[in-house]
Amino acid sequence: MYLMEKIVAANLKMNKTFPEIQEYIRDINDLSNENIVIIPTSIYVPYFLNKNYSVGVQDIEYNEFGEYTGSLSPKQVSSMGVKYTIVGHSERRKHYNETDDIINKKVEAGLNNNLKVILCVGETKEQRENNQTKDVIEKEILNDLKSISNLENVIIAYEPIWAIGTGLIPKADEIKEVSLLIKDVIKNINGSNIPVLYGGSVNDTNIKDIIRIEEIDGVLVGSASLNPSKLKVIINEVLK
Ligand code: PGA
Repeated sequence: MYLMEKIVAANLKMNKTFPEIQEYIRDINDLSNENIVIIPTSIYVPYFLNKNYSVGVQDIEYNEFGEYTGSLSPKQVSSMGVKYTIVGHSERRKHYNETDDIINKKVEAGLNNNLKVILCVGETKEQRENNQTKDVIEKEILNDLKSISNLENVIIAYEPIWAIGTGLIPKADEIKEVSLLIKDVIKNINGSNIPVLYGGSVNDTNIKDIIRIEEIDGVLVGSASLNPSKLKVIINEVLK
């Protein structure tokens, strides 16, 4: 069986002051693998570049230039040497009312500008309880990737919304089931095999069990990644 290279993406979200981020950068200086993706708050991005790990941004605008005060252009991001962008994180969907239509445009804009796009999908607690998980995930993927045929640079992060920042995670079988579904949906779009990450309360103690799930090609880590030593434990488990 073809084994995909594993990925660890660290989403630092809107955390840390500048002195704290300088210390963080020093603490992770020994990381050396391009499949480690550090995703800081955008104002700090330049300080993470030209290291032996990859850098991503947490979101992009879909327009390339112009009157979009406060936004990050995919072209600007790519021209700085950033390799990845998250798109469709549930916090963007929730706090900024991002619809699948907007997310679809962002995925396209990211890919057009040579960024690898980590597209986040996931169900709410209520949807899971109503057995709608599979329908929700399939619908999000089909809508978010509408009219996009080259999925070579797309990575899907399965992030159950109820698992983000809560300490709760689905059972291994449930993660496996959704991951297989995602891979099937993608294969039906264009036959390609793309990485599927798991995200939601990943930490230095549960990582062993998560990464044992064969269908998972890596993790998207939020709060645990704010602590360099926890992040390193996770990286050592995933990329060993
Ligand atoms: P968490 O966040 O690890 O803090 O649950 C994950 C994410 O939002 O990507």
